Amino acid sequence: MIGKGRQTRDGIRIYQDADFAGMHKAGALAARILDEIAEHVFPGQSTGEIDRLIEQKVNDAGATSATIGYRGYQHASCISVNHVVCHGIPGDKKLKDGDILNIDVTVIVDGWFGDTSRMYVAGKLNRKAERLIQVTHDSLMKGIEAVKPGNTFGDIGHAIQAYVEGHRMSVVRDFCGHGLGQVFHAPPNVLHYGRPGTGAVLEEGMFFTIEPMVNLGRPETKVLADDWTAVTRDKSLSAQFEHSVGVTANGVEIFTLSPADKFHPTWG
Ligand code: MF3
Ligand code: CO
Ligand code: CO
Repeated sequence: MIGKGRQTRDGIRIYQDADFAGMHKAGALAARILDEIAEHVFPGQSTGEIDRLIEQKVNDAGATSATIGYRGYQHASCISVNHVVCHGIPGDKKLKDGDILNIDVTVIVDGWFGDTSRMYVAGKLNRKAERLIQVTHDSLMKGIEAVKPGNTFGDIGHAIQAYVEGHRMSVVRDFCGHGLGQVFHAPPNVLHYGRPGTGAVLEEGMFFTIEPMVNLGRPETKVLADDWTAVTRDKSLSAQFEHSVGVTANGVEIFTLSPADKFHPTWG
């Protein structure tokens, strides 16, 4: 037992009915910020400026950034451009026409964490990048479709991996989703690959992220000397989408749905 509520043998916290409302509010804010930032993504814009706008929006909402000060990280977002897999650090570098980027925001509202990321394009989207973005988005949705009591985390990973590899792309193994709730990162590790029926069994009241990273080339990554930026070893293009979800009695609630329905890559 931790406070009220329960923990499974794998150390996964089971939240209560009333806790869904807190997650919904935090998730909705993170998603709204990602909606609003879309118009600020264009060729010539710097990722540092996008991050400043995100920090402003977090503050304006009376919320807290979960990433500023997290293990020494100093920004309100991670912005991962082209072959950057995740944890890209915002900076002075300007976006170029055709760049694709993931923007990942985590906010804390009334103690609850909302963590979501999605893909954006600066200027004109090329065919290869479009395909990667579409497959990555759809793989997340396949993973979410596997979320219901009685299924396992292996079922989620398998759904994602089978979909991605069926499109001759690869799933990154070096980073995973995570439990969250009143903390940023908690058990379990949510792998984006796996075998059906393996891993912990999903129970109503589990809160976690699913955030597959998909590469056009090989799955291997390396972390740059800044100790954050993860890139594809073969320099191939990478994409990621992330939702925070909760297991309900019959299935799943997605906490980070886009209020303006701009999560899907073909919004514009
Ligand atoms: N939001 C990321 C995730 O999905 C974590 C970013 S931690 C940071 O888990 F310090 F790099 F911001
Ligand atoms: Co996350
Ligand atoms: Co995130």
